[in-house]
Amino acid sequence: MERIVEIEKFTADESIENSLRPNGWNDYIGQQQIKKNLSVFIEASKKRSEPLDHVLFYGPPGLGKTTLALIIANEMQTNIKVTAAPMIEKSGDLAAILTNLDEGDILFIDEIHRLSPAVEEILYPSMEDFRLDIIIGSGPAAQSVKIDLPKFTLIGATTRAGMLSNPLRDRFGMNFRMQFYTSEELSEIITLAAQKLEKTIHDEAAHEVAKRSRGTPRIALRLLKRVRDFADVNNEAHIDLNRTRYALNELGITDNGFDEMDIRLLELLVHAKGKAMGLSTIAAALSEDEGTIEDVVEPFLLANGFIERTAKGRIAAPKAYELLKFNCPVETPRLL
Ligand SMILES: Nc1ncnc2c1ncn2[C@@H]1O[C@H](COP(=O)(O)OP(=O)(O)OP(=O)(O)O)[C@@H](O)[C@H]1O
Ligand SMILES: [Mg+2]
Repeated sequence: MERIVEIEKFTADESIENSLRPNGWNDYIGQQQIKKNLSVFIEASKKRSEPLDHVLFYGPPGLGKTTLALIIANEMQTNIKVTAAPMIEKSGDLAAILTNLDEGDILFIDEIHRLSPAVEEILYPSMEDFRLDIIIGSGPAAQSVKIDLPKFTLIGATTRAGMLSNPLRDRFGMNFRMQFYTSEELSEIITLAAQKLEKTIHDEAAHEVAKRSRGTPRIALRLLKRVRDFADVNNEAHIDLNRTRYALNELGITDNGFDEMDIRLLELLVHAKGKAMGLSTIAAALSEDEGTIEDVVEPFLLANGFIERTAKGRIAAPKAYELLKFNCPVETPRLL
C-alpha cells in the first residue's frame, strides 16, 4: 500500500533535515526505553488491527519527536498528516482536518501546547469518542451537530509539557519524555549521516562533533554539514580529526558544545554566588523570553549538572564554577 505523508508546514530548514531523517527503528539511534515501549504498543495494535492509542512526545527541540511520529506511521503502515498548532486557528480548521482523515490515519500536531482553548474543546471528544461536537450558527438558532469520525491516532509533540492543559494531557494513552543523547549515540548518528552525505568520517572525528553537540541530534547534524563543507573545499572524501577540530574551532563551537547563551546564563548564576535566581530575573538579565530559557537553554545544563533548580530559583552547581574558573562560595550552593 502506498502511504501518504502529508506535510503542511514545510520550511527550508525542515526539507534539509528530511534528507537525513531516519525512516525506521534501525537508524533511529538511542531513546532505547521509548523505542522498546513503542514497538510493543505498535505490534499489539497491529495484531488487534486497531489504530494505536494517542501518543504525546515532549522534550527540548531537536531530540527526534517529529522523527518518531514519522517512524510510527511507517511501522503502522498508515498515512500521516503533519500540522502544527499555530496553523489550526479556528475550531473549523480542526474540524476540517479531522473529517478528512481515514480510518487508522495518524494526525501529528506539533507544538500542541499552543492550541487555543476553543480548538482544544473540539479535540477532547474527538480523541475520546471519535466524535465531533460542533455548534452551527449562534443565538437561539444555534444547533449542536455530532459527526462520527474515523478512528485515528493523534500524535502530539511539545517542548513545553508544563503548558499543556491537564484534560488534554490526560487524553493521551502514552506520553514519552525525550532524553538528551550520549556522545556515543550522537557519534553513531553522525557516522550514519556522513554515509548518507557520501563521506566517511573517522571515529574520533565523529566523537569530536558529538561532544560538542549539546546532546542533540539536530545540532550534531548541523555541525557535521559544516565540517563537511570544510572537507569539500579541501577535496577530502574522508573527514579526519584534524579537519574536524579545525572546522569546529573556526565555527567557534566550545569543547562541551555550550553556546553563547549557555555561557551567559552560567556567568549570571555564578556571579550571584549561590543566591537563587528566579526565571523572570534570568530572562530579563539575558533579554530572552522565559519560555526559551526554560525549554531550550536550561534542560541541557540541568541534565549535565551545571545548574540546579531549587524552590527559590536557579543556582550554579560546583561544575559551573569550575568551568568558568570562578571561586565557589565557601558553602557550596548545594548546601545553602
Ligand atoms: N534518534 C535519532 N537518530 C538519528 N537521527 C535523529 C534522531 N533523532 C533526531 N534525529 C535527527 O535530528 C533532526 C531533528 O529531529 P526532529 O526534527 O525529529 O526533532 P524534534 O524533536 O521534532 O524537534 P522540534 O522540537 O524542534 O520539532 C532530524 O534531522 C532527525 O533526522
Ligand atoms: Mg519537530
